Amino acid sequence: MKKLFPLLMMVALSITATSCYYDELPAVPLPENVSYQKNIQPLFNKNCIGCHKPGATAPDLTSANSYLSLVTVVNGEAVVIPSDAKNSILYEVMTGNGALVMPANGALSASKQALVEKWINDGALNN
Ligand code: HEC
Repeated sequence: MKKLFPLLMMVALSITATSCYYDELPAVPLPENVSYQKNIQPLFNKNCIGCHKPGATAPDLTSANSYLSLVTVVNGEAVVIPSDAKNSILYEVMTGNGALVMPANGALSASKQALVEKWINDGALNN
C-alpha cells in the first residue's frame, strides 16, 4: 500500500496539470502567424503606453520604439528573449508570474497572454 501512494499522487497530479492546461486554452484561436505590428503593438497601445512612454517608465512601448526596447540587452538582460517566453520578463509580468503584474491594474486575458507567448516563442520577429 505504501508503494501505491506515490503512484496515485503522480496520477492525481498529472490529471490536475492537464485540466489546468485545458482551462487556460485561449477562447479565441491564435493566428498561425502572430504579427508584432498587427497583434502585439495594439495591446501595448491600449494597455501600456499610458505609463510606458518615451522618457517615462522603461521599457518604452510606444510604436516607434517598442521593438528595440524589448529586444535590446541592457545590463545583461533583455525584456524579451526570442523563442523563450517562459524566461522573458515581458511574458512574466503579463502573466503575473514575476514580482510585478502588468498592466498594474490587472493581468490581460489568457488569449492576449497566449498571443504574446506565441509571438516570443516564434522568434520575437519585428513582423
Ligand atoms: C499604471 C502604469 C503602468 C501601466 C499601465 C503598465 N506599466 Fe509596466 N511598469 C510600470 C512601472 C512603474 C514599472 C517599473 C516598476 C519597477 O521597476 O519597480 C513598470 C515595469 C514594467 C516592466 C519592466 C519589469 C522589469 O523587471 O524590468 C515591463 C516589462 C512592463 N512594465 C511591461 C508592461 C506592459 C507589457 C504593460 C501593458 C500590458 C504595462 N507594463 C503597463 C507602470 C505601468
